Amino acid sequence: MFHMAWFLQTGFGAYGWNQQWSGNVAKDLANPQLFVDLATSLERACFDYMMLEDSSVIPDVFQGTMENSLRGGTIRFDPMPLVPLLAAATSKLGIVATAATTFYPPFLAARLLNTLDHLTQGRVGVNLVTASPHAAAQNYGYAQHFEHDLRYRMADEWVEAVKALWDTWEPGALTLNEETGVFADYTKVHRADFEGEFYKTRGPLNTLPSPQGYPVICQAGGSPAGKDFGARNADTLIASARGVDKMKAYRDDVSERMIKFGRDPKDAKVLFLVEPVLGDTQEEAQAKKDRMDAAFFANPEPALAALCYISGLDFSTFDLDAPLPDLTGRHNGHQSVVENFVRAAEGKTLREALGATRDVSTSVTLVGTPDSVAAQMGEVMDEVGGDGFLIALPVTRKNITEVCDGLAPALRRRGLIRDSYEHDTFRENLLAF
Ligand SMILES: Cc1cc2nc3c(=O)[nH]c(=O)nc-3n(C[C@H](O)[C@H](O)[C@H](O)COP(=O)(O)O)c2cc1C
Repeated sequence: MFHMAWFLQTGFGAYGWNQQWSGNVAKDLANPQLFVDLATSLERACFDYMMLEDSSVIPDVFQGTMENSLRGGTIRFDPMPLVPLLAAATSKLGIVATAATTFYPPFLAARLLNTLDHLTQGRVGVNLVTASPHAAAQNYGYAQHFEHDLRYRMADEWVEAVKALWDTWEPGALTLNEETGVFADYTKVHRADFEGEFYKTRGPLNTLPSPQGYPVICQAGGSPAGKDFGARNADTLIASARGVDKMKAYRDDVSERMIKFGRDPKDAKVLFLVEPVLGDTQEEAQAKKDRMDAAFFANPEPALAALCYISGLDFSTFDLDAPLPDLTGRHNGHQSVVENFVRAAEGKTLREALGATRDVSTSVTLVGTPDSVAAQMGEVMDEVGGDGFLIALPVTRKNITEVCDGLAPALRRRGLIRDSYEHDTFRENLLAF
């Protein structure tokens, strides 16, 4: 059996703007109901979690303007306040929201996540990112963003600081003794007095220990520093690796790093991104994939704009029909994604490279009926020895139905995913197998 989750690629943002099957998107932009529908459907399908990406910028690197982003609807509401609404509509699903360690003061994050763990009754997770755009850093008062590996060093210390705050209440500190009138034993609540190279915090938390103690920690960066951060701290890692060999290598690499940090590799689940294209027949699914590919090649702008956001470099200044210029030392963005692209672009023009990397962030191309795709997913996991998949489709009710009422039952019929939850809290379910 393997685990399943859903990755919301543009967080609490706009999905399917101006596209078919987007529902009432123009009217419903900040309405949580679409996300509530996703959550209840994922629970019906027995998924482990949904993960909301986040960022705090309207990207303006592409052509040096926000025009492309605003035309396309690149907005994000803060995912944190959505978490309790999703939890209120479900009882088992894990709910992961993204937080940038670089911008959240440790005390603010520790208290917020502790409170959310209470409100969700032990089902909150946090995707810890270091963020990459300079514009994001400038929103929080920095002149520019910190250098790539430095921000992971800061993130490691940030986790230590936050855990020190979560640990400020010893087990048994809460007494609630009505006879003596003592709410909590003050000898069992301590200051954290954390003092590191980058962060300082006093504590204790003025909340209570939460159901999971620490929320589930998720991580998604593929650079060596990113993988080390995940291997040291995460309960689940989101991996972008193309093909069975690279997937296997990614899992093995994470396992080795976990052992290096004294952890059991079984204590973190590595899930791989997929974007299944589903149809009633193989031919119908293939025709749909062909249409999607044709639309992609007809307009390379969104793919170029995405590369700009990820790298911080304006790709619109490069000739689409010439080889990619040397980018060594020129970017401070998502290292692994940019390096994968540069490798794929060797000997190609930029336009050809965009085509060649069309499916690069998905681990395997899945096109077919629910049953044939389920079979392929089973075969891939058998070979990879991985822990499962993460669906990275736009949040439309059509996609929700195809996955939760088509693909998930097909996976279940093959005994590949759970048919009920074993436990009540997120981490227990994640580590159940
Ligand atoms: C599936 C996936 C999801 C991600 N989600 C976010 C996100 O929500 N916010 C963010 O700032 N970065 C996000 N990232 C970026 C990574 O967390 C990381 O910062 C980036 O990949 C750079 O890491 P690297 O340099 O270690 O590769 C995501 C990356 C991947 C592959």
